Amino acid sequence: MDNVGYRFCGRSGLKLPRISLGLWHNFGDVDNKEEAVRMLHYAFDHGITHFDLANNYGTPYGSAETNFGKILKKDFASHRDEMLISTKAGHDMWPGPYGNGGSRKYLIASLHQSLKRMGLDYVDIFYSHRYDPETPIEETMGALSDMVRQGKALYVGISKYPEDKAREAYRLLRENGTPCLIHQGRYNIFNRSIEHDTLPLAAENGVGFIGFSPLAQGLLSDKYLNGIPDDSRAAHSYGFLKREEVTPDVIKKVRKLTDIAARRGQTLAQMALAWCLRLEEVNSVIVGTSSLKQLQSNLDALEKPSFTDEELWLIGEQGAV
Ligand SMILES: NC(=O)c1ccc[n+]([C@@H]2O[C@H](COP(=O)([O-])OP(=O)(O)OC[C@H]3O[C@@H](n4cnc5c(N)ncnc54)[C@H](OP(=O)(O)O)[C@@H]3O)[C@@H](O)[C@H]2O)c1
Repeated sequence: MDNVGYRFCGRSGLKLPRISLGLWHNFGDVDNKEEAVRMLHYAFDHGITHFDLANNYGTPYGSAETNFGKILKKDFASHRDEMLISTKAGHDMWPGPYGNGGSRKYLIASLHQSLKRMGLDYVDIFYSHRYDPETPIEETMGALSDMVRQGKALYVGISKYPEDKAREAYRLLRENGTPCLIHQGRYNIFNRSIEHDTLPLAAENGVGFIGFSPLAQGLLSDKYLNGIPDDSRAAHSYGFLKREEVTPDVIKKVRKLTDIAARRGQTLAQMALAWCLRLEEVNSVIVGTSSLKQLQSNLDALEKPSFTDEELWLIGEQGAV
């Protein structure tokens, strides 16, 4: 196993690979299954020990967990203790009043379903996928804590919580004796808001941080420079990135960023990943890849981790979209 490099997650004893692999897109029933197997093998063989899932990942919902579970059973059964597997509940999953939100009913039923789909006894991290203003936060945190006590999750985390609610969540989880391990939030050159609230609060509480969509779903690459390719996320009806988001203004910024990356001897995707990891408080970034080639190329981001002040300034100039 190559060493991708690991960082401690907050003040915990748990190490995260600097690059983690996310299975939101590219691992569902609509995706290329052979490529999915190849990517998981390559990732694990190169030290990517952390695989990030959620109940509703894949098209249709749940299919990423089911497919991941099949590959785990066939190829990785003897490696379970070398892997860090996370799942989440919080967004839309099944019809009716109990398949969305932050209720105890939803979170616990959902984790049971996720474990069944993946063929696991426990997950390493169970997240509340979003803050639900309609559920008392004590109820949501109580459900997370109980999953730890029952041995169905080793750690718990929160995702995309606003600052005031994250503060409450950290306090409640601490009081429950199951401290929050990690906050998962969007972080990339175009979306830096966590630097001002989420990151300092997490650091103050000893909570780790992991960034998602470090490539802004593929916008921070050379992919869309000459239009929207048929095999891209923006072209798929089931992709979360919409055609309308690939605007001339975004592409203008992407061109400028591509030039900065080229002067550093990197692709834009590689520079975008290295840029997220320049902050030690960003313990890991979760990248998504639709091909083995993308994954291989993205891992090379780790070869040029440092930035000059001038580079940071120039990148910052293109930051907000
Ligand atoms: N907590 C949350 O609410 C939340 C939300 C979103 C994501 N996440 C997590 O974060 C993970 C990553 O999110 P994401 O998929 O949006 O991440 P991302 O890394 O920003 O985007 C991934 C997409 O970028 C394109 N790409 C990747 N490498 C490339 C390269 N070298 N060259 C050109 N294009 C490249 C691919 O798109 P194409 O398909 O177009 O090739 C790929 O599917 C998810 O899988 C999930 O685990 C969590």
